[in-house]
Amino acid sequence: MTKLLIDCDPGIDDALALALVAGSPSLELAGVTTVGGNVDLALTTANALALREFLHLGEVPVVPGSPGALLRNVIRADKVHGSSGLGNAVLPAATRPAGDGHAVDFIVETLRAAPGEITLVAIGPLTNIALAVRKEPRVVEWARDFVIMGGSYTRGNTNPAAEFNILADPEAAAIVFDAGWTVTMLGLDVTLTALVTTDVLDRLRPLGRLAEQLVVPAATAYGMVTADGGPAIHDACAIAYVLDPSLFTCVPAVVQVETAGRYTSGMTVTDFKLRDRRPNALVATSLDVKRFWDLVLDAYTRLAAGLG
Ligand code: RIB
Ligand code: CA
Repeated sequence: MTKLLIDCDPGIDDALALALVAGSPSLELAGVTTVGGNVDLALTTANALALREFLHLGEVPVVPGSPGALLRNVIRADKVHGSSGLGNAVLPAATRPAGDGHAVDFIVETLRAAPGEITLVAIGPLTNIALAVRKEPRVVEWARDFVIMGGSYTRGNTNPAAEFNILADPEAAAIVFDAGWTVTMLGLDVTLTALVTTDVLDRLRPLGRLAEQLVVPAATAYGMVTADGGPAIHDACAIAYVLDPSLFTCVPAVVQVETAGRYTSGMTVTDFKLRDRRPNALVATSLDVKRFWDLVLDAYTRLAAGLG
């Protein structure tokens, strides 16, 4: 059993990542924390609460955190994720409220209570994570592993230099990468190969309520599905890594986050030449796409059976 705590900004691909968790009995979700990102915090939190119930995630705590970046003006991705944040998926509203307190305290206290047991996964802007390591630097020792969807060692998506999660809060990302742990970075270099093509969509469509109410309306709103292209379910790659790291090739690197560049702020400057420096990241350089989709379809099929 692998315990994980997910910090997220649902978010179409965040929702598909949570569905992958819900369909994977080898994962135990210690909690979900939310951050402003794709859409405002109120919406990312409402979406996380609705997903908790729709995906039958039980009593998993959902705790809201930072509405925006440490220093920068807010950037959003509602043009990509839709005004609701879940594309065309319309889930029943949550009946149970978010947990009390702040995500940062929840992250610190959850890791303190189970040192070495919980994998921390961040699939949105890193503001909550940065505040947690500032508040309690020992979280970097308490986390069993720290995995993010974010960054890129080639090109960005929000601009040529920067990927959205990093660009949304570059200062937070710089704090996180310099915190002393090893960040497993699933960047655009691999997540942009995890595409919902026509063949993938054909495999997803028969999955009952899960397909009809969430996966298909969300994924098809996330981008144009074609025979050889489609929307990338970026965040699900982070969960796939936790489930089966062998799906990926990861290379040690020194990653530094640009925070001063006029055109390059938010760039994850990745140096695979360590030059006797300690690597602060394991950077994913390849993904076995066929095995990724087999793993996703297996989990979604299991989940769909329980949702009807
Ligand atoms: O660049 C992709 C990332 O930005 C994903 O986490 C997506 O949800 C958006 O937040
Ligand atoms: Ca996200």
